[in-house]
Amino acid sequence: MTPDGRPAPEVPVITIDGPTASGKGTIALGVARALGWHTLDSGALYRTLARAAMTRGVALDDPEALARLAAALSIGFAGDALTADGQAVGDEIRQEAVGAAASRIAVYPAVRACLLPAQRAAARTPGLVADGRDMGTVVFPRADLKVFLTASAASRAMRRHKQLIEKGFSANFDDLLQDLQERDARDASREHAPLQAAPEAVVLDSTHLDIHETIERVLQEWHRRVG
Ligand code: CDP
Repeated sequence: MTPDGRPAPEVPVITIDGPTASGKGTIALGVARALGWHTLDSGALYRTLARAAMTRGVALDDPEALARLAAALSIGFAGDALTADGQAVGDEIRQEAVGAAASRIAVYPAVRACLLPAQRAAARTPGLVADGRDMGTVVFPRADLKVFLTASAASRAMRRHKQLIEKGFSANFDDLLQDLQERDARDASREHAPLQAAPEAVVLDSTHLDIHETIERVLQEWHRRVG
C-alpha cells in the first residue's frame, strides 16, 4: 500500500461502504470467497477500540485518551484475524452497545488516524474486499471497484435483529430501528470521513435482493471491469 491510499499495483481492492446493517460484511465475505481474496471488516477496529474504552473506563468523548488507548492496544491483524493487545478479538464486539460506542468514537480524526495504518496494511495479494463507511472515500481512494450498499431502515433492523438473536444476544426490534437511525444520522453528518458514496461508486439497494443476488451483482460489476 502506498501512503496516498493507492494499493500496491498488483493488489486489487473492492470497497463496500454503506449504513449500519446494510449487509456489507456478509457481502464482502461472499465476494472475497468467490475471488479467493482477503477481507477487511473496518468497523471491527472501531468496535474493538470502543469496547476497550468501555471496559477500561476511558471516556468516549476524550479523543486524546482514546488515541493513547489505540496506540497501547496496537490493534491489528494476525493473518485475517483481528487482534488487540496480542489477543484475538471475538464476538464480544458485536453487541449493539459496542456498535453505538464505536460510532461515537469514530467522529474523532485522532481516533480515525490511529486506525488507518492497520486498514491500509490489510491490502495484500491476491486482493482485498474492504467494508466500512469510508473505504472508497478515504482509506482506499484508488480502489478498483467501489460499491455503496443500502437497504431500507426497516429491512436493516430486521436483518440486525436476526443476526443478534443467532449470536445469542437479546434484541428488541423497535430499539434496534431507533438505534440504527440515530447511528445513520451520526455517521452521515460527522465532519470527518462521513458516510457517503464516492462519486464513482456503484450504488446497490439490497432491500429486495437476497445475499446471493447481491454478491452476484458485485461480482458482475467486477468482471465487467476486468473483462
Ligand atoms: O455492523 P455495523 O454496520 O452496524 O457497524 P460497523 O461496520 O461494525 O461499524 C461500527 C461503527 O464504526 C459505525 O457506526 C461507524 O461509526 C464506525 N465506522 C467508521 O466510522 N468507519 C468505518 N470504516 C467503519 C466503521
